[in-house]
Amino acid sequence: MNWQYDVPLRRLHTFGVDVRASKYAVVHSVGELAECVRQMQGEPLRLLGGGSNILLTGDVETPLLHVCIPGRQVEGPYGNDELLVWAGAGENWHKFVQWCLQQDLGGLENLSLIPGSVGAAPIQNIGAYGVELAEVFDHLEALDLQTGQLLVMDRQDCAFGYRDSFFKRAGLGRFAITKVFFRLRARDHRIRCDYGAIRDTLKDMGVDKPSIQEVAQAVIRIRQSKLPDPAELGNAGSFFKNPEVSAEQAQCLREAYPQMPQYPQPDGRVKVPAGWLIEQCGWKGYREGDAGCYEKQALVLVNYGYATGADILHLAQRITASVQERFGIVIAPEVNIW
Ligand code: FAD
Ligand code: EPU
Repeated sequence: MNWQYDVPLRRLHTFGVDVRASKYAVVHSVGELAECVRQMQGEPLRLLGGGSNILLTGDVETPLLHVCIPGRQVEGPYGNDELLVWAGAGENWHKFVQWCLQQDLGGLENLSLIPGSVGAAPIQNIGAYGVELAEVFDHLEALDLQTGQLLVMDRQDCAFGYRDSFFKRAGLGRFAITKVFFRLRARDHRIRCDYGAIRDTLKDMGVDKPSIQEVAQAVIRIRQSKLPDPAELGNAGSFFKNPEVSAEQAQCLREAYPQMPQYPQPDGRVKVPAGWLIEQCGWKGYREGDAGCYEKQALVLVNYGYATGADILHLAQRITASVQERFGIVIAPEVNIW
């Protein structure tokens, strides 16, 4: 392994916090990864993809492996209308989505412009604009970091939920995802524009019967209008998950706050947008030193330059406490805090 020591991480993650990794290496193949795992003999490792969903609260002392395994390919037909397509864990997610769209392969268009790598996408079952990765996911390959075994995991093994999977629970820290397989439609595309903002944007674009490429364009426009570009302003997307409350609690909240947006879920629970709760508590646009709550989207915490991970975490804790005090709802971080 080509280990590097005392490596600055500021440019290797999107929050742009100035911390270092004691020991860092890039892996370009499953073979290199397996060799590294063998050498480590069960010692803990941390994995890094695009660094767009982590908050680093200090130097990373555990050896850090940057998963840069490349490759993407159409494997072949899957039933009548679908194709099985795979990408290596190190592929950039958005570039992979665009590559699929260029070949008129449908299913990922609503997930355009999500930062990060293909390998990290199943970890929190990435989702946006009415679609989640789980819907087009077929299976993945992952290396068990304890045994060095390469495993295949299907949708059931991955236990996907809202911003959740097996890899955030029982499988936490145990597996390196190396390759992800998707089932994408080659014809009769299912256009998903149930999310109001997509419909409005398509209308603005003058599009009546959208193609998958036009849906992607609409999603990109929406995202660019309200989410900060990490190249300009440090952030990790939504810092918190949208909380779910019981139908009874939702009813009480509706009576107390008739303006509160609520989204009933198939299981009877009700999702409440954390961005709305945070905005109501007065945090939107708030800044404390270099840590802040983004002015256009209250769910996004930002680093204006030299905030530490602790500064951002402290702000997140104050926001959490105020939302709980005002609404009796506990919001939980979506971002992985190291
Ligand atoms: P990293 O931040 O590098 O890692 C995240 C976690 O996955 C870590 O725990 C890491 O150890 C682990 N990991 C990384 N690679 C592997 C691997 N190969 N095998 C096993 N574990 C691994 N997310 C959404 O769901 N929807 C959105 O709309 C969305 N919008 C965003 C907008 C912005 C501006 C930003 C900055 C982030 C947004 N995110 C969104 C969050 C983020 O893009 C996703 O969670 C993405 O999948 C993270 O990928 P990454 O490669 O950057 O992961
Ligand atoms: N809202 C406010 N104030 C705000 C932000 C939002 O009142 O400052 C309200 C909006 O008015 C709207 C509702 O909250 O009624 C939802 O807002 P939005 O459509 O912006 O989506 P979100 O719930 O804030 C979620 C995901 C995003 C994803 C978008 C689009 C989570 C935690 N976040 O955000 O994912 O891109 O929907 O589907 O589920 C991410 O995970 O990092 C991420 C960016």
